Amino acid sequence: MIAASPTNVRGADAPSLAPQSPWPHRVAWLLVLCTVIGTVGLGATVTTLGAGMAFLDWPTSGGENMLAYNFFNDIKLGHTDKVLEHVHRLAGATTGLLAIALVASLWFLEPRRWVRGLGVAVLGMVIVQGLAGGLRVTEISTALAMLHGHFGACVVAAMFVAVLVTGRSWANSPRGRETPPVRTVQWLTGAALAVLVLQYALGGMVRHFGGALFEHLGGAVLVGLLAAAAGGAGLATGERFLRWNAAAVLGVLGGQLVLGMLAWATRFGVAAVGTVAVQHSPLQIISRGGHTVFAMLLLSALVCQWLRARRLATGVDSSETPPPPAARSVASSVSVNRLPTAAGVAS
Ligand code: HEM
Repeated sequence: MIAASPTNVRGADAPSLAPQSPWPHRVAWLLVLCTVIGTVGLGATVTTLGAGMAFLDWPTSGGENMLAYNFFNDIKLGHTDKVLEHVHRLAGATTGLLAIALVASLWFLEPRRWVRGLGVAVLGMVIVQGLAGGLRVTEISTALAMLHGHFGACVVAAMFVAVLVTGRSWANSPRGRETPPVRTVQWLTGAALAVLVLQYALGGMVRHFGGALFEHLGGAVLVGLLAAAAGGAGLATGERFLRWNAAAVLGVLGGQLVLGMLAWATRFGVAAVGTVAVQHSPLQIISRGGHTVFAMLLLSALVCQWLRARRLATGVDSSETPPPPAARSVASSVSVNRLPTAAGVAS
């Protein structure tokens, strides 16, 4: 019988099944950067300018194959709405191709089955997101446009999780530190996420229907307090594995609050200080689009911080660890998937 190795006992610091190749991590980064800067940035601008219905058809654009459509004519004619919507569609197609590349790189190079499953889930979400965007056009539905924006945030967060778990810092992170400060980070981050979901719904009402303005402002106070506490608690643990993520939560939160105030001032004006809203001014386009993008980044940063805190707090289980050398040499006939653990035989 093989003795339980310290590497598969809950609570131990141990190397886990490490990524074998840096490529899935690189592809995940490329996917998230192209999606946030390209597809989401353009999509947010399309919504701000009310250009989502520039074409009444989908997946064709103006009756033509999307890939063959000549939008240079629209540039010459100054049809900015068509140019933006078309390039947003092309950026979405690029996101789809990169999501396929992520699945392929994970399939061939990633040893952890659940990470390969995550890649497939990301691809599935990208497909659903594309369909929601298309249906928003064919059904002429503002509610679907809102859903498309909100689900887009979930897709981006899932992509950031793919970046996180394919990285070396995840594989080499310390484990079994179920200390009160780490637990506090987990609780505060979870609470901030719960309130953020409600704030998202209210923000969508403001953006797409011009309502729930003051409710959204109240939500901003709650999200602001909880996310600041979560970020501060993350920094206070002194854990290297949490530090950068916590700083990102605080930085993105600060940016989101400033962009929210600018979006408000440029869309609705502020009578008290004599600010008048100028429809489609550059500052309005930047602040409204930026507020959408930063909301996604805040969601992603909080999700990643929660996962990091959870990983720190929990121990290693046998499915994550490479088989101990003894198991390979002494008992090569025993399946390493069925090594005895502290909790019994793992299946
Ligand atoms: C952390 C706090 C905040 C979060 C998480 C948040 C989130 C959001 C979200 C998700 C949207 C909808 C975006 C979309 O559907 O594409 C939105 C819209 C909006 N938010 Fe916030 N928000 C926050 C703070 C604020 C603050 C402090 C203000 C103003 C003082 C504000 C003003 C607005 C306005 C005016 C819109 C509509 C923008 C538009 O029409 O394009 N938000 N917010």
